Amino acid sequence: MTTALIDRFGRRIEYLRLSVTDKCDLRCVYCLPRGFKAFEEPEHWLSFDEIERVLRVFGALGVARVRITGGEPLLRKNLAGLAARIKRLPGIKDLSLSTNATQLPKQALALREAGVTRINVSLDSLQAERFHELTGGRLDQVLTGLEAARQAGFDPIRINMVALRGVNEDEIADMVEFCIEHDFTLRLIETMPVGSTGRAAADHYLDLQKVRERLAQHYELIPSVMPGGGPARYVRVAGTNLRIGFITPISQHFCETCNRVRLSVDGTLYLCLGQEDKLELRPLLRAGVGDDELKQALVDAIARKPERHEFLEKPAQVLRFMSMTGG
Ligand code: 5AD
Ligand code: SF4
Repeated sequence: MTTALIDRFGRRIEYLRLSVTDKCDLRCVYCLPRGFKAFEEPEHWLSFDEIERVLRVFGALGVARVRITGGEPLLRKNLAGLAARIKRLPGIKDLSLSTNATQLPKQALALREAGVTRINVSLDSLQAERFHELTGGRLDQVLTGLEAARQAGFDPIRINMVALRGVNEDEIADMVEFCIEHDFTLRLIETMPVGSTGRAAADHYLDLQKVRERLAQHYELIPSVMPGGGPARYVRVAGTNLRIGFITPISQHFCETCNRVRLSVDGTLYLCLGQEDKLELRPLLRAGVGDDELKQALVDAIARKPERHEFLEKPAQVLRFMSMTGG
């Protein structure tokens, strides 16, 4: 009999977000401080063998979906090789990727061939200068990366836009048109107070309920569903193929349906994005833990999964940067 991962609140954990590096070639204002260099030591990175071992056990415990994330996951050497290994694991039915797209021109095809089917790309502005101010990077690289993803056959391609008041809220309509034109799905995200950067960005917090009302004045929005099992609430824009997802961790939190945990590059299993509760897997793995013991450690950790984030009550709580868990 297989044990499923069910927490104290009856939530079934069947989705793992796997951060394969905490490094990033960008410095999005709400994520990483400019000039930040204190990344994890390579000897602390889980090896591909260690990652595969942990995911095999998760697969046996009913985790069916894995999203590879970062930092910027494409900076990890031979990521496509890792993706192919994950894809072959028993129980893992869906393998997806979150990326900033800068390395996609070089890697999109190999990743698609490795069995990654769905891809999310972070893109907060379509104005080159503003994009540079927000990320330190170049917009044309991301647009070329998106084109490469399309050529490689990823479907769907979803754009993640963190909506910030007074920063890029004036571009939401442009982003809608851009996504209609290119057949991308758009996901708007409320900024979260994760790390000092996330807390600073909270000054620009934008309530997406209001954005939705504003969009509804220009477009007919039809409530819709999208496969994936995530927390986004989708609408379809009438007369187009566009779906817009609203991810509202602050204005309308969705913790009661949370189905996920996060594994960081150093082998820390974070039980909630908004809490510090964790299980350090690296010491166990490197001490030669057996499969049964590993399984039990995961089951016990899930039993400690916090009920919900406390971004509003305790905004200073999460010290790590978002680059450690990839959102
Ligand atoms: N709040 C909300 N989303 C964030 N991301 C990074 N930092 C934050 C934050 N403070 C998102 C990025 C990206 C994903 C990896 O996480 O937009 O899409
Ligand atoms: Fe890099 Fe993503 Fe963080 Fe931006 S949000 S700095 S792309 S990890």
